[in-house]
Amino acid sequence: MAAQSANAVQSGQPRIVVVGAGKRFGDHQVYRNVNFSVGSREVLAIIGPSGCGKTTLLRAIDGLMPLTEGEILIEGEKVVEPRGGVAMVFQHFGLFPWKTVYQNVGYGLKLAGASAAVIAEKVPQFIDLVGLNGFEHHYPYQISGGMQQRCGLARALAIEPRVLLMDEPFGAVDAQTREILQFELLRIWEMRPTTMVFVTHSIDEAVLMGDRVVVLKGHPAGVHEDIRVDLARPRTRATLSEGRFADLREYVWGTLMADARKAEFEVTQ
Ligand SMILES: Nc1ncnc2c1ncn2[C@@H]1O[C@H](COP(=O)(O)OP(=O)(O)O)[C@@H](O)[C@H]1O
Ligand SMILES: [Mg+2]
Repeated sequence: MAAQSANAVQSGQPRIVVVGAGKRFGDHQVYRNVNFSVGSREVLAIIGPSGCGKTTLLRAIDGLMPLTEGEILIEGEKVVEPRGGVAMVFQHFGLFPWKTVYQNVGYGLKLAGASAAVIAEKVPQFIDLVGLNGFEHHYPYQISGGMQQRCGLARALAIEPRVLLMDEPFGAVDAQTREILQFELLRIWEMRPTTMVFVTHSIDEAVLMGDRVVVLKGHPAGVHEDIRVDLARPRTRATLSEGRFADLREYVWGTLMADARKAEFEVTQ
């Protein structure tokens, strides 16, 4: 009972809080007054057109790039530099080409200060979790894009992050592999639920992955809508054929695309 209520308190507090976030490069205000929070076992999907600042915002949460306005708190502490327990998965995998799968997965742990014994114990576990057994000693160029991203995912998960940031992680793989990886990630998340911010420009992917979908748009961009996705978990392929999934997808589509055609013609005039 005590453990249960402690858990409830913990999950009631947002793990990430973004307050009045803005980013400007010279005269270019990319986004402004962005506010949202993410709970400890929540997946927040962020969707928005190319250039609206999704990557920049993730990098700010990761502590790699400062905001120009506002602040980001993780577990109540202001983010001013990269911190332990926060891991990022990149669109273009971000693997070291001169390191093997095993060494790439071990790298994050090494950076986090893990001992050789811990690395030797954890790396095989996470290679197994993402289904890369047998490929430990392959180099990135020897494996497919999907497998490279499994490796990127294993490297991020191996540090057992409290915050997992994903920047269009399946944007560089073919459509079928993308679907496979989406369901793999959902399976892994069920086993190890954590705070996740999942950036994508796929509406289906945002609805499938997220507990909420934040729609960023405008010039400068801002949070246009913060939509609750009330689809049951675990989410599986069957989720894709639920009527509610179709409704939510249509809703997000309408939100995102309402002015897109107008904007397209404005640009080309
Ligand atoms: N280091 C930088 N210097 C100048 N402009 C940048 C820099 N990084 C990003 N930008 C600009 O900020 C905007 C948002 O970029 P980004 O966050 O990559 O968008 P998204 O990920 O949504 O496609 C783009 O117009 C981009 O050109
Ligand atoms: Mg981006």
